[in-house]
Amino acid sequence: MPEKKNTEFDRPGGYATPRGAIQVQAEAARLLQASDIRLLGDTAPGHEVAATTVRPAYETADPDTRLYIGDCRDVLPNLPDRGAVDLVFADPPFNWDVPYDEWSDGMPRSEYERFTFDWLDACIDVLSDRGAIWVNIPDDTAAEIVMHLKRRGLTMVNWCVWHFRFGQHRDSSFIMSKVHALYFVKDPSNRIWNPDAVLEQSDRAAIYNDARTQAKTNHAGMRVPMDVWYGPYWGRVQGNNKERRHRHHNQIPEVYLERVILACSNKGDLIVDPFCGSGTTSTVARAWNRRSITTEYGEGNAESAWERIAGIGMLRKGQSVGGTSAIGAKRSSRTKH
Ligand SMILES: C[S@@+](CC[C@H](N)C(=O)[O-])C[C@H]1O[C@@H](n2cnc3c(N)ncnc32)[C@H](O)[C@@H]1O
Repeated sequence: MPEKKNTEFDRPGGYATPRGAIQVQAEAARLLQASDIRLLGDTAPGHEVAATTVRPAYETADPDTRLYIGDCRDVLPNLPDRGAVDLVFADPPFNWDVPYDEWSDGMPRSEYERFTFDWLDACIDVLSDRGAIWVNIPDDTAAEIVMHLKRRGLTMVNWCVWHFRFGQHRDSSFIMSKVHALYFVKDPSNRIWNPDAVLEQSDRAAIYNDARTQAKTNHAGMRVPMDVWYGPYWGRVQGNNKERRHRHHNQIPEVYLERVILACSNKGDLIVDPFCGSGTTSTVARAWNRRSITTEYGEGNAESAWERIAGIGMLRKGQSVGGTSAIGAKRSSRTKH
């Protein structure tokens, strides 16, 4: 039988996504909302939010940056910026008994799922119609987050994977070497998306010396990164890594936030991170002239994060752009492929 090719593509900025990959989701979300599918977290009582005036514990200008101390489920619904946020990046506690400053990271599973749905809802409510939400989450809760975002009517643009090569040794199963980076939007046909800001070298350019890619008039030898992210500076932040902020757990590398922020926001846009930790999101946001709001439960964490956000700043600005993720060395032109 002759091969049937898919000729239906969306080409925002010239980069192709098969149209069906996005379009089927709206119908699926409608059916999901109408269905009776229940997740464990649906059985637990939701968080009750008291209406109150919230004030940042730390703030600075140029660009406006605010850090609130408290539970993000209480702070976000009381922000004056509801509906005006362009990008949310959330890296929640994973419920893995991590000894955070003050947050207790060991809830019964149903409570943890309810907590997850409640903070997701608070994030969706602050987002503008063009906004995007990214969630950093490991295997054990990724499916529930995807289901909840879909039933709230959001559309998945990418299910990216952050791959690191310094997993903890175990011999009972394959070693964990990834976390999911879920990218959802309210409106896939009207979203902030800057592919040109995050280009990297294509394998054709980096390995195969392909003359055709170098002859392109637009962005010769470059492409939008693939959806599995790894490479220099992409490892877990630990040991003597110069980015490392001692006392913080699960710090995300600056390059990860840089890619998300450059691709999904513009200069002056407003970014929210409900789980500040060491302050990676606001640190990178400031370096790229984005406004940001972050919330942190632990006072000590907040103080230390603010030192970084307002003082130390970003250490690897620009390192996520223009490099290569090619596996394998450049081949000589005489090498047979
Ligand atoms: C996984 S860490 C975030 C790490 C951060 N992405 C970074 O790069 O440093 C989660 C953080 O969220 C904080 N946290 C936990 N529950 C919270 C809540 N309900 N509201 C606000 N912050 C919370 C914890 O204290 C911890 O600092």
